[in-house]
Amino acid sequence: MAEFDKIYARYLNAFNAHLDEFCTGLNCTPGILNDSLIYSLKLGGKRIRPVLMLAVADIIGTGSDKVINFALALELIHTYSLIHDDLPDMDNDDFRRGKPSNHKVFGAGNAILAGDGLLNTAYSILFDECFKGNEFISAAKYICDCAGVYGMIAGQSADLLHENDSTADEETLQFIYDKKTAKLITAAVVVPSILNGGKYYSELKALGKKLGYLFQLTDDILDVEGNFDKLGKSLGKDEEEGKLTGVKVYGLNNCKLRVDIIGDDCIKIIDGLEGDASFLYDFVSYIKTRLG
Ligand code: IPE
Ligand code: IPE
Ligand code: MG
Ligand code: MG
Ligand code: MG
Repeated sequence: MAEFDKIYARYLNAFNAHLDEFCTGLNCTPGILNDSLIYSLKLGGKRIRPVLMLAVADIIGTGSDKVINFALALELIHTYSLIHDDLPDMDNDDFRRGKPSNHKVFGAGNAILAGDGLLNTAYSILFDECFKGNEFISAAKYICDCAGVYGMIAGQSADLLHENDSTADEETLQFIYDKKTAKLITAAVVVPSILNGGKYYSELKALGKKLGYLFQLTDDILDVEGNFDKLGKSLGKDEEEGKLTGVKVYGLNNCKLRVDIIGDDCIKIIDGLEGDASFLYDFVSYIKTRLG
């Protein structure tokens, strides 16, 4: 995995340099708006979506230059979703990425605006890309659809609706996982395909869905038995809020078994990609065993 860590760090550094440039150029008035946007963007985070996008772009020959602004827009959308997710009327989480959540620092009103600001700015970045050609328009539209009311927002809505719902079942859990988590991860792996003539489109779409499922399964497990210092967020919140999670539906041990099964599903899909996909195989292992 040493090679994986090195390559991950390379993509992460390339993305963070681009994000830094974006943050340096932000000049909102009042200053509190600027500060609240930059606060959450610069807290860190694993950046798995931009890293995945850059990696897939390399593997299928799309090239980083074409995807880098899409990666930026996607990370802005992801960060907005976290700021809103943590709000008192949603998951009521006081910590994110190891630091106080946006609303704990700036207040709920400003946190709502920071989320709105990141989402709007992401769309502006995507519109700029659209001038480059039809495939850029299609890629931008794909991200919008994944983030929107048939995508991540639908998942967040179902996540709230089924709090403390003792009748909710596996099908509902699957809906929540697919929408709230897998949609943005799918966008990360599909955008490089759309920008490259649809190369491996169906394989990458299937991979995004499985990886998203795997990622949320491990997120649910870590909420039960993770470590705050590594995770950067409070533990035990899902049970406290009565969330419908993998742990609730399957039990902790079966949830871990499913991590193995879904991990194998991911591997089978990656087997169908030509070229050097070793980073993706290692990425699956990383998600399966992650502590943060
Ligand atoms: C957290 O996402 C929200 C989920 C979809 C579980 P990440 O775990 O990718 O959050 P950061 O960006 O690393 O903080
Ligand atoms: C959040 O899922 C998914 C989003 C769209 C933000 P969670 O609510 O489980 O994410 P965490 O555990 O707060 O990071
Ligand atoms: Mg949530
Ligand atoms: Mg949450
Ligand atoms: Mg969670």
